[in-house]
Amino acid sequence: MKTDVIDEIKSRIDIHDLVSEYVDLKRAGQNYKGLCPFHSEKTPSFMVNTAKQIFHCFGCGKGGDIFSFIMNYENMTFNEAISFLAGKAGVKIETMHHHDPDRGNKEALIAAHEEASRFFMHNLKDSKQALAYLAERGIKPEMIEQFSLGYAKGERDSLLKHLRATGFSDTLLKKSGLAYFGSGEAHDFFRDRLIFPIFDLRGKAVAFGGRTLSSSKNIPKYLNSPEHPLFRKSESCYALHMAKNSIVQKGYSIIVEGYFDVIACHQFGFVNAIAPLGTALTPGHLKKLKKLSPKVLLTFDADQAGISAARRGIELVYAEGMISKIVLLSDGEDPDTFLRKYGAEQFRKFLGGALSPVRFFLSKAGKNKIEGVRQFLAILSSCNDPLLRDDALRELSDLASEKVMRRELEIISRKSSAEGRRLPSSVVELNSTGETPEMSKEEEILLRIALSLPRMARRIAEQIDFANLADPLARRIFERVLALPQDEELSVDALLSDCNPEERSAISRLTIDPGIDMEEIAKNVSDCIGKIRLKHINMRISEAKDKGDADALFSLLRERTSLTKKP
Ligand code: UTP
Ligand code: MN
Repeated sequence: MKTDVIDEIKSRIDIHDLVSEYVDLKRAGQNYKGLCPFHSEKTPSFMVNTAKQIFHCFGCGKGGDIFSFIMNYENMTFNEAISFLAGKAGVKIETMHHHDPDRGNKEALIAAHEEASRFFMHNLKDSKQALAYLAERGIKPEMIEQFSLGYAKGERDSLLKHLRATGFSDTLLKKSGLAYFGSGEAHDFFRDRLIFPIFDLRGKAVAFGGRTLSSSKNIPKYLNSPEHPLFRKSESCYALHMAKNSIVQKGYSIIVEGYFDVIACHQFGFVNAIAPLGTALTPGHLKKLKKLSPKVLLTFDADQAGISAARRGIELVYAEGMISKIVLLSDGEDPDTFLRKYGAEQFRKFLGGALSPVRFFLSKAGKNKIEGVRQFLAILSSCNDPLLRDDALRELSDLASEKVMRRELEIISRKSSAEGRRLPSSVVELNSTGETPEMSKEEEILLRIALSLPRMARRIAEQIDFANLADPLARRIFERVLALPQDEELSVDALLSDCNPEERSAISRLTIDPGIDMEEIAKNVSDCIGKIRLKHINMRISEAKDKGDADALFSLLRERTSLTKKP
């Protein structure tokens, strides 16, 4: 409801008009310029960009949208700023809730999905092939019932015909994504697929996932409904309505990867299991889980991709002020295959061995404990909860030997004194200052490009090895880009809405004045990525030298040679 109000206010108030009431603005190229109202200055460094609806002051660093402007200027909380601007815009906060014009529409969307779900369930009862597939995968009939599993026939428009006959309009069906209205005849979105209804928290179907029954490599194994007003992939957790009581009761949720993993977990009694839907874990998923319990158990593959996903997951969990433990499943195993092979008792034992983030990082670092400590500290810095941070640091100092810690501190202090920054007196203090490593020029250019050309954002993010990024903010932004559904563009608006003031400042600064050479973008991107890689490897080389680790040094030097040889 609140986001409706916010969008409504944003659509009615232009940032230039609003700011002009407080600041004398003059046009300057694409932007407007004026004297910053938040610090005293003689030459204007305060900019407003109407295309992006943001402001930024290059003098004091304050920046954001209309809400941040009012929060800063009028010294208000976010909610106060909403009421204040709602009043200005003539948006009534309470009454919007009651006469929500979309309300009827939402009910109709749910009705269409509920009807479709019944239709798919009915089909399943008639499909020997689909039933045999489920039996072969060890899914019990009770589970088919409980998860309302279904089957979409191979015909081109059986569901569409059925829903039209039931009285649903084409406008609604188009919106629902259940049928595809392209250039030719409209047809069903799901064909010859096993169907997993995706439920809202009340247990109403709002979308579907579909697994192909064919083993052809040319079609996607899973398809998910396109997004619509009731279905956001970055927030939907599969089976959350069935898991929620158990999450509260057990005090944690288990996050697995796929539909079958969730169903297997529930079948074997792990009823607090949920999964994201074809996207990586996002802050949106975690916010939903946090309402039930702050603790999550992350399960990932033990391969390289799984390990990086685990690192990212841990960081996101910290950023939400939540607590994670991690298990890695070996050799192409997932919770579904594990449970069927070894049973519930073994799985329980396996989960019992889950690692805390500290242990996870140290165990992945192998002999190179310093690197583990360093990576862990970098990730912990995304955590704004001092209690959580203290706990983690206490655990770290119990585990990492004193020598390792002292060594790491020396490196950090040497670096910061070289850069003329304040010397941290201890690890704890270093982190509780919340200071983040400065953004490098290359990271900054990549961010500028991603923020001003959202269409490029995913392509850039996919080329970056996140371990090479020094600045956590840059990393978080690119992670968010990757977490977006494939076809969605990065929206500066959405980014601004859930980040802290420092991040807001950096984002508005980089967006408002892109300062990039539009002709040379591709070259800029690949140059920056190359330089970032090189910097990272040079850093590891000097570490290896410091430690006198000849083996590591040798292989790093070889890596660097191959890096610089590439065109
Ligand atoms: P996996 O490919 O790891 O498969 O996808 P899985 O869940 O083990 O599938 P089975 O066991 O072979 O049936 C994990 C999850 O990623 C999403 C789905 O949500 C899936 O459950 N996914 C996967 C997609 O959205 N699209 C795909 O093409 C593949
Ligand atoms: Mn599987």
